[in-house]
Amino acid sequence: MPTAPESYDCVILGAGAAGLFCASIAAAQGVRALAVDHARAPGEKIRISGGGRCNFTNLHVRPACFLSENRHFAKSALARYDQADFIALVERHGIPYHEKTLGQLFCDGSSRDIIDLLLKEMAAAGAVLKLQTAARTIERTEAGFRLALETEGRRWSVEAPALVIATGGKSIPKMGASGFGYGVAAQFGLPIVETRPALVPLTFGGETLEAMASLAGVAAHGAARAGAAMFEEALLFTHRGLSGPAILQISSYWREGETISIDLAPQGGLFETLKAAQAANGRRAVATALAEDLPKRLAQHVAERAGLGGALGGLSDKALRRFVEGLRDWRLTPTGSEGYRKAEVTLGGVSTDALSSATMEAKSVPGLYFIGEVVDVTGWLGGYNFQWAWSSAYAAGTAIAARASGAEG
Ligand code: FDA
Repeated sequence: MPTAPESYDCVILGAGAAGLFCASIAAAQGVRALAVDHARAPGEKIRISGGGRCNFTNLHVRPACFLSENRHFAKSALARYDQADFIALVERHGIPYHEKTLGQLFCDGSSRDIIDLLLKEMAAAGAVLKLQTAARTIERTEAGFRLALETEGRRWSVEAPALVIATGGKSIPKMGASGFGYGVAAQFGLPIVETRPALVPLTFGGETLEAMASLAGVAAHGAARAGAAMFEEALLFTHRGLSGPAILQISSYWREGETISIDLAPQGGLFETLKAAQAANGRRAVATALAEDLPKRLAQHVAERAGLGGALGGLSDKALRRFVEGLRDWRLTPTGSEGYRKAEVTLGGVSTDALSSATMEAKSVPGLYFIGEVVDVTGWLGGYNFQWAWSSAYAAGTAIAARASGAEG
């Protein structure tokens, strides 16, 4: 005989960064909250994030650092709960952290500290967490939503007036990413902005890749451009193409068929440096002089590619200038990216047109909320995506509490 559904004020699907935080925020304001995840452990992406140290936010978070079809959408949630709020929470838990670079804040110890923070906040607020639990069906009822769930073969159901979808995007399928949230949006007639892998290495083919093959493993400082977007950070040559922070950042802006531009001397002054080297010793090889500023293998590669395998002496100013210009605007056309297997995030998702920016609630389905990566809001590399998870979770959790207590959210 089927058992009666369990009853909560709010069910949250997905116990990642956004889901765990939303459960703790709602429960702390008196909401009976249940968070459900099909994985064995909560917050698996937090665990592997930031090389195991979780880049949990960024000192410079601002709406301009997020991509979305509606670039204003993230403003409201980011203003209600910002990086200072999350940093204060991290400090209340006594978690040591440091700024690595460009405002990126990492745990000194391990990302486990952030998962523990979220679990402690949930437990203290009385939120319930059920792992290894998959949602089979979601039904709209008069009172809200009824979900058929399955936990290790046992079927059970739960009812709640509020349902939060925090199931993340499609990146890293082997860690539980399922694209499930997009299916829920479709079930309720909400539009989806086409998804694509983002913060992902770019791949090359044919002669470009062949020419680059000798550079695999070389890291350099540079700037990468795709359209109007430009990021100056580290670049890494791989055996399939290009990676490193500068490339991951522009991968969110690049589209198939487009050319990217690499600037290997973004700090300027390279012409003057080479001129001085020429004046000091004309017998010096171009590659050797260049190796003062670039990794040796890269210096050799770009000199040979430009037909300047010989000495500096005899090179006209015009030839040197043309060479430097080439280094500052190295045009390459990627054939693709490493895809969801290697992407840190998913671009696109549930259209912000369908959601309230203040509460994350679906405008046409009262009680249904979407938070975190499943929404069409994608941050830059550097802690921005976790801040979006915290901010959007806070917006929904607070709105659900206000609604549950009879006040308007
Ligand atoms: P998240 O993916 O974290 O959680 C979704 C949860 O839903 C998962 O636990 C999943 O198991 C569960 N789920 C999915 N389908 C389900 C279903 N059908 N039923 C039940 N549960 C389901 N960002 C950043 O700001 N700083 C960083 O340092 C990094 N580093 C980083 C490294 C790597 C390798 C990756 C892949 C990503 C990052 N990121 C990052 C991005 C960051 O991890 C990401 O933006 C957030 O985890 C998104 O949080 P969400 O809670 O929205 O999804």
